[in-house]
Amino acid sequence: MKIFIDSANLEEIKQASSLGLLDGVTTNPTLLSREGKDPIAQLKEICSIVEGPVSAEVVAQDSEGMVKEARQLAKLADNIVIKIPVTNEGLRATKILSQEGIKTNLTLCFSPLQALLSAKAGANFISPFVGRLDDISTEGMSLVSDIKLIYDNYNIKTEIIVASVRHPIHVLEAARLGAHIATCPFKVILQFLKHPLTDIGIERFLSDWKKLKDTLGR
Ligand code: G3P
Repeated sequence: MKIFIDSANLEEIKQASSLGLLDGVTTNPTLLSREGKDPIAQLKEICSIVEGPVSAEVVAQDSEGMVKEARQLAKLADNIVIKIPVTNEGLRATKILSQEGIKTNLTLCFSPLQALLSAKAGANFISPFVGRLDDISTEGMSLVSDIKLIYDNYNIKTEIIVASVRHPIHVLEAARLGAHIATCPFKVILQFLKHPLTDIGIERFLSDWKKLKDTLGR
């Protein structure tokens, strides 16, 4: 499974990238607004750090505006993917962009049928938001499971990005279900790397090694 970082923060992206595990980045208007910088310059910089796909979201609500924005964003770098909300207008825009060879990531997906239609429109990626569904007492991972089943039934190549990830168990479940990608906040990447028994184990090995050295007098 590929791991993306869900962030527009350069420091976090650089750190995750230096771990050698980063396959891509997803951003959205909220994440870019948190950085308080020119979003275009920020996206360019992100694309220069990461080789994999970098999702940049359109803010227009009509298909014409989305396509216009997408064409501009696509010029920023070869690895830009255009994030588009799953709406009627979004699907129209996706169809046009897919015919132009511009990659898309359909976002704010909350139902399996939205995912099916996104794939039919030519989406390269689909982003089910699991955390936001969990927030309203609906099982987010069931959505991923349904999308996976439907995509497998029809041999659909659209890649599933498990998004709105809140904790490591979301990542574990995404991997169990065979989702292609989990996009995680940096905090979650650090959480799932860490295990207290690994730390305790290292401490014990080092202290036993020191004991041996002391015994041998070196
Ligand atoms: O990738 C989508 C993600 O940024 C949404 O996460 O935590 O705002 O639901 P969240």
